[in-house]
Amino acid sequence: MNAAGNTGTGAGRIRTMTGADVAAVEELERALFPLDAWPLQMFEDELAQPETRSYFVAVDALDRVIAYAGLMCIEPIADVQTIAVVPEREGQGIGTQLLTLLIDEAGRRKAKDVLLEVRADNPRAQRLYRWFGFEQIHIRPRYYRDGADALIMRLELDRWTGAPGADAGQAGQAPPAQQAGTALQTDPVQQTDETEDAR
Ligand SMILES: CC(C)(COP(=O)(O)OP(=O)(O)OC[C@H]1O[C@@H](n2cnc3c(N)ncnc32)[C@H](O)[C@@H]1OP(=O)(O)O)[C@@H](O)C(=O)NCCC(=O)NCCS
Repeated sequence: MNAAGNTGTGAGRIRTMTGADVAAVEELERALFPLDAWPLQMFEDELAQPETRSYFVAVDALDRVIAYAGLMCIEPIADVQTIAVVPEREGQGIGTQLLTLLIDEAGRRKAKDVLLEVRADNPRAQRLYRWFGFEQIHIRPRYYRDGADALIMRLELDRWTGAPGADAGQAGQAPPAQQAGTALQTDPVQQTDETEDAR
């Protein structure tokens, strides 16, 4: 185990986001969403509402934040508030792991649907969501500050049977993380306990 409490292989892990992560997350947010970055206060406000919010970070072996994601759930709807991976770690399955966590959390919180907004000009994110079974249900024209449209996508949880690729027979192909053998270790005890306590 290293100083950060990581018992994984050195690749890092996924854990609940805390206030101590907010500065690093906000720095990534500004780099990844230069036009619509959430201010630091927004993340603090989100973390202050654990009864309806669940936020996670993926960290590397040195406990540096490499990805983050958040969910709001007000029954019966859960919303993916944000999900982002640093560019140098994209395509390794971290987004898949985080989205799986969010959807599982939505299920634990008894949501029926998971909704999200995605830029119409963000094909990679859309591919990820469609792969998970999200379907486009609306378009919000010029939703973003630069005039880009937003696609509203929905996953009906009664159709959710687990992450695509988790069952090779079902998805036909393992997700990138499993192919590369680089899946990050998750911290389910911390995640579950904190969420349960918050309700
Ligand atoms: C969108 C984002 C979160 C995805 O994270 P990621 O870690 O790169 O995603 P993953 O590696 O888990 O998976 C994405 C891949 O799974 C792929 N996938 C889709 N179907 C698949 C299948 N049947 N089998 C295997 N992989 C599949 C996706 O297409 C995508 O790969 P590609 O871009 O090479 O086509 C990340 O790209 C990101 O942070 N982008 C910038 C911020 C952003 O746009 N956030 C979303 C806002 S709505």
